[in-house]
Amino acid sequence: MGWSTASADTTLPDDGAHTVRVALGARAYDVLIGPGLLGKAPSLIDCRIGARRCAVVTDKNVAAWHLGPLEAGLKALGRYAGAVVLEPGEATKSFRELGPLCERLLEMSLERGDLVVALGGGVIGDLAGFAASILRRGVRYVHIPTTLLAQVDSSVGGKTGINTPQGKNLIGTFHQPSLVVTDTAVLTTLPARELRSGYAEVAKYGLIGDAAFFDWLDRNRHLILDHDAVALARAIERSVQMKAEIVARDETEAGERALLNFGHTFAHALEAWTGYSERLLHGEAVALGVCLALRLSEELQLCPAATADRVSAHLEAVGLSTRLSQIPGGDKADAIELVRLMGQDKKVRDGRLTLILARGIGQAFAMPEVDAALVREFLARELKRELHLQPRLPDG
Ligand SMILES: NC(=O)c1ccc[n+]([C@@H]2O[C@H](COP(=O)([O-])OP(=O)(O)OC[C@H]3O[C@@H](n4cnc5c(N)ncnc54)[C@H](O)[C@@H]3O)[C@@H](O)[C@H]2O)c1
Ligand SMILES: [Zn+2]
Repeated sequence: MGWSTASADTTLPDDGAHTVRVALGARAYDVLIGPGLLGKAPSLIDCRIGARRCAVVTDKNVAAWHLGPLEAGLKALGRYAGAVVLEPGEATKSFRELGPLCERLLEMSLERGDLVVALGGGVIGDLAGFAASILRRGVRYVHIPTTLLAQVDSSVGGKTGINTPQGKNLIGTFHQPSLVVTDTAVLTTLPARELRSGYAEVAKYGLIGDAAFFDWLDRNRHLILDHDAVALARAIERSVQMKAEIVARDETEAGERALLNFGHTFAHALEAWTGYSERLLHGEAVALGVCLALRLSEELQLCPAATADRVSAHLEAVGLSTRLSQIPGGDKADAIELVRLMGQDKKVRDGRLTLILARGIGQAFAMPEVDAALVREFLARELKRELHLQPRLPDG
C-alpha cells in the first residue's frame, strides 16, 4: 500500500481542499481537508447536504477559539438552530451529559431533516454523533474535527459512543457522518501535547500498512509539528485515506478494521492503569503500545531486529514516550496487572488474546490466540529491563 497507490478516491477541488471519499454505498461521505475550511463549513454544508437547520455541539475550549466563525456563517444562511457548549474532557462522554444534550437538541426543535454539527475533538464527535444517532431515531451529523487525533481517526468510520463505569466506549452505535470538514488551521490553537498525542495515530497508519508513508513521516515530522499547512494536509489525507479504505471494506470491524488497533490492546491497558487521566493521553498510550507490539513481534522473530528501535527513535524525536518507565509512575507498573487490564479489552477470550503484531514497518497483521502468559512474561521482562533506564521525557 504505497504512498501513490492509494485506491481511495482522492481529488483536489478548485478551493484547494483535498477530498477523501469514504465509499460506503448509500452511507458514503466525503472528508474535506485543507486550511481555512471552518469558515467555509456553512456553505459547504449548505451545498452538499442542504439541511434545514444546524445545531452545533462543542466544548468550552473549542468554542472560545472556533465557534464564532461557524455560528456567524450559519446565521448568515438562516440555518442556525443554536449551540450546546459542554465541559471539555473525557467525563463529558457519559450518560449524564447525553440525556440533557438530547433534550437541548429537542428544545431547539431539531427535526429529522435537520443536522447536528460536532465541532471538537473525539469526545465531542463521539458524544454528538451518538446523540444524533438516537435523536428522533437518527438525524444526520457533520463532524468538524479540531484535534489531530479526531482529524485522522475518530471523525472517520462512524463509531460513536460514551463511557460507563464498566469501561470506555461500551455504549454506542455505528452512525456515519454525512460530511467531515477538516480544517488544518484549527490545529494551531491545539495544545502541543495534544498535537503530539494525535501524531502517534498518524505514525500508526504508516506502521500498519504504508512503509513509504512512514519514511515520509521520518523526513517531515518536524514540519507537521510546526503546523506546516502542506505537510499537515498530506499527513492527514494519507491517514484518512487508509482509514477510509479499511472502513469501506470492514465497516463494523468483523476483521480487517482491527488492524487500526495496532498498539491499542497495550495502550488500553496502560490507559486503564493510569486511570484514563492526564497522566497518559490516548495517543501517548498508543505510542507506547506500538513500540511494545513491535518489540514483542521482534521477540517472536516475526519482524526484523531493530524495527522497534527505529520506530522508538522516531516517536521519541516527536516528544512521545516509548518505554513504560518514561510515564509518570511507570516504574511501578506490574505485568500481572497490565495483562489483567488487557483482558478487559474486547479482543480477549479464555486467556487468549488477539494481538495486532507486525512483520515489519507497514506490515501489521492480526495474531489470534496469543497466550496471555507469554504476554505477561514479555511485559515482566520489559519492566525489569527498564528499571534503570533514562528519566522520563520532559513535558511541554
Ligand atoms: N470514534 C472513534 O472511532 C474514535 C477513535 C479514536 C478515539 N476516539 C475517542 O476520542 C476521544 C479523544 O479525542 P481527542 O483526543 O480529540 O480529545 P478531546 O476531544 O478531549 O480534545 C482534547 C482537548 O483539546 C481541546 N481542544 C480540541 N480542539 C482544540 C483546538 N483546536 N484548540 C484548542 N483546544 C482544543 C479539547 O477541549 C480538549 O481539552 C476519546 O474519547 C476516544 O475514545 C474515538
Ligand atoms: Zn487510537
